Amino acid sequence: MLVFKTQNELVSYLNSVSNPETTIGFVPTMGALHDGHLSLLTEALTNNSIVVMSIFINPTQFNNAEDLAKYPNNLDQDIEKIKSVSDTIIVFAPSVADIYEGNTVSQHFEFDGLENQMEGRFRPGHFDGVGTIVKRLFEIVKPTHAYFGEKDFQQLQIVKKLVEKHSIPVKIVGCPIFREPNGLAMSSRNERLSSEERKEAAFIFKTLAEAKKRFETQSVKEVSQWVEKAFADHPLLELEYFQIADEANLLPCTEKNKSKKYRAFIAVNVNKVRLIDTVSLN
Ligand code: PAJ
Repeated sequence: MLVFKTQNELVSYLNSVSNPETTIGFVPTMGALHDGHLSLLTEALTNNSIVVMSIFINPTQFNNAEDLAKYPNNLDQDIEKIKSVSDTIIVFAPSVADIYEGNTVSQHFEFDGLENQMEGRFRPGHFDGVGTIVKRLFEIVKPTHAYFGEKDFQQLQIVKKLVEKHSIPVKIVGCPIFREPNGLAMSSRNERLSSEERKEAAFIFKTLAEAKKRFETQSVKEVSQWVEKAFADHPLLELEYFQIADEANLLPCTEKNKSKKYRAFIAVNVNKVRLIDTVSLN
């Protein structure tokens, strides 16, 4: 399996094997791979002649130094997992110096307000960092299709906006959330939980599933208050936010409108490990 550590090597290789019919499927990640990441690869393999996965822990999207320092990092193990899907996948695992060329800062982006909600509100600068790295990676890999998980639904909408605003010729494909058997959304950060915490964290999805049921008959305010109370009563899980929002513009929903699609978004801290999840409500 090919593993490239610099953009120059990757670009030379892609140029040498590409022809006008080549389609490149791209799956950007920060490593510590799990089955959710691998499902994006499987999707990319069905629709493209070449598949590239990047593994790069992007420092500019972390607003919390401890979160960055503790982010799991194991390239050899990740490569084995990718091989188990297919050894035709091309891995791009550059260094910070290679990507940022001595200037590790983000560019500022306007995403028509998508960046001001939820993760943007609680993680200042996060989406500038995501926009910077995703745009940079698209410029290097030049994919025809790029695959993103609905687990980070706000990120998925922002990447679609990035591509539209900057006229980047790539199709963004959203993929469903992979979960542990107990319902916990798979996440690289789950590796930092003890087995007890992992069990308790299933409460997040259980609560979202119940909120979805309640949304059929109750108001947004009633559902939100019920969720806040459920977490206030939980000794281990600390709710950062619960938000019901319009899927298209991510603005908070106050009154339900039958013609709109809504989604619940949640962020929870479990012993300093920050987990997010989302479900569609209608
Ligand atoms: P990372 O958290 O590693 O996620 C990489 C991709 O995997 C994202 O598109 C994410 O939504 C998807 N993913 C994560 N967990 C998933 C799950 N349980 N089911 C399905 N898909 C899942 O998201 C990032 O990295 C970074 O922000 C990145 C886009 C790579 C930019 O640095």
